[in-house]
Amino acid sequence: MEEIAALAKRRGFIFQSSEIYGGLGGFWDYGPLGSVLKRNVKNAWWRDTVELRDDVVGFDSSIIMHPSIWKASGHVDAFHDVMIDCKVCKHRFRADHLADRTKCPDCGSKDSLTQPRNFNLMMRTWVGPMEDTSAQAYLRPETAQGIFVNFKNVYQTARKRPPFGIAQIGKSFRNEITPGNLTFRQREFEQAELEYFVPDDGNDMAAFQEWVERRKAWYSNYGIAPDRLRFYELTQEERPHYAKAGIDVEYLFPWGWGELESIAHRGTYDLDAHMQLSGKDLRFFDEAAKRHYTPLLIESSAGMDRTTLTFLVDAYERERSVDPNGKETERVVLRFHPRIAPVQAAIFSLARNKPELVERARGIEAALRPAYRTQYDEGNIGQLYRRQDEIGTPFCVTVDYEGLDDGTVTVRERDSMRQERVAGDVLEAFLRERL
Ligand code: GAP
Repeated sequence: MEEIAALAKRRGFIFQSSEIYGGLGGFWDYGPLGSVLKRNVKNAWWRDTVELRDDVVGFDSSIIMHPSIWKASGHVDAFHDVMIDCKVCKHRFRADHLADRTKCPDCGSKDSLTQPRNFNLMMRTWVGPMEDTSAQAYLRPETAQGIFVNFKNVYQTARKRPPFGIAQIGKSFRNEITPGNLTFRQREFEQAELEYFVPDDGNDMAAFQEWVERRKAWYSNYGIAPDRLRFYELTQEERPHYAKAGIDVEYLFPWGWGELESIAHRGTYDLDAHMQLSGKDLRFFDEAAKRHYTPLLIESSAGMDRTTLTFLVDAYERERSVDPNGKETERVVLRFHPRIAPVQAAIFSLARNKPELVERARGIEAALRPAYRTQYDEGNIGQLYRRQDEIGTPFCVTVDYEGLDDGTVTVRERDSMRQERVAGDVLEAFLRERL
């Protein structure tokens, strides 16, 4: 993980937030490549979950909402971790992370740990000029509630009837006691949530299973190693009391299994809770059957930062090989899926100081740019390949002297490192087929 974190910093994927001031725990910034990587992950989710379906609509709610929403959802009363402080070093721990409560794991002091206390994870702020409790509000700890409270607005305006879904990608905030493992556990993060409402006609478990299969296919289509991904079925004791079924999608990170997504059958719990506290009717009116009913809810809630981190970790490889001269070499390569890779094709001029080469290479890069994520570079070819391998670029296209005569370029494929000469006028088609 240290190697991956170092690469992420060196190549401009992930930086510590506020680094020049010593950083701020649990907050991260995405650099030029990281921001594109994360955007690609979100786009891949949005494309498959919303755009390619006729039964899911998009949504974008505000981060700060009426505080009653968090009362109804149960977050005000129950969204907490149990924490323990060390009275000597003042460090704070999650109670469930402490195996031995007689000794501080950081400073080693004996009997210095406090009794366990509840710690609400919601971030607080004030709305308007008064900083009193009447103005207190919360930064949302999940995007889902914005969807629930708008259920009626959405189905009426989008003219949808269950089964249908509402999807949203957005920031969430949790004042985690122990953020860590790079972007795995943060205090500000992004979620992609699908809330899929189904009729109470007995097919709800089939709908749940269908979404589990779709999410399995999604990870597999984008190349996540199947032996490092598992869909863990929660037992009744592990699920919230209202949930009829629950699956945690987990990835095997260098430190062990970590949750990327939860898929849950939440029944009517969320809509019921908001109907009760707001006094508003959020039920669906079935015109044909002339009856009101509360749809059942299937939720898929994925962390976009964790998923981005997963793509980074899964793609990372330190590969040893023997070069054509029999010398052992090593390279670091990110084997991103072409749709996820921040740069899809890098175009090089073999020499910096040869205007004919530079002009042709720049021309090719400019022509490919509208269709692909491209980058132009020039200089020592070995170093250029090394840099592009480290950022996961699937194809490198080199303009050399031979090509000036016969109109070809050299295309080098990242994973096999195989090179082939391709005619310049079929380069776009060549890349299209492979990207
Ligand atoms: N609406 C359901 C919900 O929020 P969750 O299991 O609490 O469920 C869903 O969160 C996903 O959000 C997690 O699987 C994880 O990927 C992401 N997530 C939760 N807390 C996070 C944190 N502190 N940092 C990064 N991602 C987080």
